[in-house]
Amino acid sequence: MNKITDIDILDKRILIRVDFNVPLMNGSVTDNFRIKSALPTIKYCLENNASIVIISHLGRPKGIRDEEYSLFPVADELEKLLGVPILFSDDCISEDSISTSAGLMPREIHLLENLRFHRGETTNDPGFAEQLARHADIFINDAFGTAHRAHASNVGILEFMSEVSSGFLLDGERNYLADAIENPVKPLVVVLGGSKVTGKIELIENLMEYASDIIIGGAMAFTFLKAQGFNTGGSLIDSDRLEIAGELLNKAKSNNISIHLPKDVLASTEISETSTWSISDVENLKNDEIGLDIGPESCIEFEQILANANTILWNGPLGVYEISNYAVGTQYIAKSILACTEEGATSIIGGGDTSAAISALNFKRGYTHISTGGGASLELLSGNYLPAFKALDNHE
Ligand code: 3PG
Repeated sequence: MNKITDIDILDKRILIRVDFNVPLMNGSVTDNFRIKSALPTIKYCLENNASIVIISHLGRPKGIRDEEYSLFPVADELEKLLGVPILFSDDCISEDSISTSAGLMPREIHLLENLRFHRGETTNDPGFAEQLARHADIFINDAFGTAHRAHASNVGILEFMSEVSSGFLLDGERNYLADAIENPVKPLVVVLGGSKVTGKIELIENLMEYASDIIIGGAMAFTFLKAQGFNTGGSLIDSDRLEIAGELLNKAKSNNISIHLPKDVLASTEISETSTWSISDVENLKNDEIGLDIGPESCIEFEQILANANTILWNGPLGVYEISNYAVGTQYIAKSILACTEEGATSIIGGGDTSAAISALNFKRGYTHISTGGGASLELLSGNYLPAFKALDNHE
């Protein structure tokens, strides 16, 4: 796969696929992490006097124009972050937009409207990809969030571009979520959370190849506890996955991998801001009690395991972090991982829920790598070869 520094971009017109699928409220961007993460590639192109056309999707508008999903507010945010004006076209393949791109001066930036306003984007339609390709001479893919999709703007388009490369963001994600996990500075400790085991089985199986310890919190821990025969009270159980959870525990044992589950939890009879809670050992949970966060003893135990790690991967919140009473465990582990990073460990934080959790807790600085991809990071960590990488690797 070509890297951006392998190709000559000086004075060229470049089409960059980014993932600017960011949350919006009242016409403004409420979390600009993904936009900031794409800036190194955009700035590098500016330093090389290139003219830049940027493409992205936002939300899932189903192939028709829907103002709710317009990228226009993102143009404002990008303008603020870069301090330069951004040209905006309200259709990504209109003749007007293509001639605006053709007329760009060096260092000018042109953002195109949401790719998913055209059905051809998600169906990977060659006709749509060919139109997109008319915007520039060189294609750079820097959209990790959609790397697990085979869409026109990250796969189909490569057929119509003679020169292509990855951007800095895409390289960083591959480096940390694949290379650093497959060849970690050992020991590798994995922290997993979130509500369901579904969607994480492949991930756990893959990580067992490399990790010495796997810490499991969040609601998914109860499925593993139940599979071990523990009482789980009224906690959320992924009942279809009990058997596989048991198999994973056995596999870990025979591979000499320690799986750590919480011994105590914050228990309550309802999930709400106002619900009262108590600290309970897992085995003492009452039938109507739900475990909503890991308890203090588990926090300390997990912190001690993390302190031995040289590489840490964290994917999934450890409790219902959206409710402040039940965000404490996630916060504690976030701080512990930060402290390990300060001591020299490499910390890799999954995208989606995990990134949203540390963002909500104002903890977004100091980790080695925070992924910009939700589904894409899960798939890459599961050991899958993502379509966007395959397309770049195979381009001739
Ligand atoms: C994401 O938010 O995970 C990416 O932008 C991909 O979005 P999608 O799941 O709608 O393809």
